[in-house]
Amino acid sequence: MRFCVCVFVLLGILGLFGCQGETQPRGQELLMAKCVSCHSNQITCLNLGKDPAYWENVVDRMAHKGMEMTTEERAVVSEYLAGLDSGAEPVCQ
Ligand code: HEC
Repeated sequence: MRFCVCVFVLLGILGLFGCQGETQPRGQELLMAKCVSCHSNQITCLNLGKDPAYWENVVDRMAHKGMEMTTEERAVVSEYLAGLDSGAEPVCQ
C-alpha cells in the first residue's frame, strides 16, 4: 500500500515537472495504438469531458479486460483523456 502511494506521488511529480510536454503526444499515441484493439474510439469520444477519476477508473477497467499497458502508460493515457474536450480529434474522427 505504502509502495503504491509512493508510485502515484512519483508519477504526479514526474507529470508536473518532468515530462509535461510529452504527455500529450504519448497519450495520443497510446490511445490510437491500444484502445482501438477491442472497440473503436467512438465509445471513448462519447465520454470526453469527464474528470480524471473517471478516466483512471475506465483505463483500469480496460486493463482488467486484457489491455496490455504498464501502470505508467495508464497514468499517461488517463491524464491525456481527462484533458480533452468533447469532440476532440483524433479521438472523435
Ligand atoms: C481488451 C479489450 C479492450 C481494450 C484494449 C480497451 N477496451 Fe474499452 N471496453 C472494452 C469492452 C469489452 C467494453 C464494453 C463495456 C464494458 O464491459 O464496460 C469497453 C467499454 C469502454 C468504454 C465505455 C464506457 C464504460 O464505462 O464502459 C470506454 C469509455 C472505453 N472502453 C474506453 C477505452 C479506452 C480509453 C481504452 C484504452 C486506454 C480502451 N477502452 C481499451 C474492451 C476494451
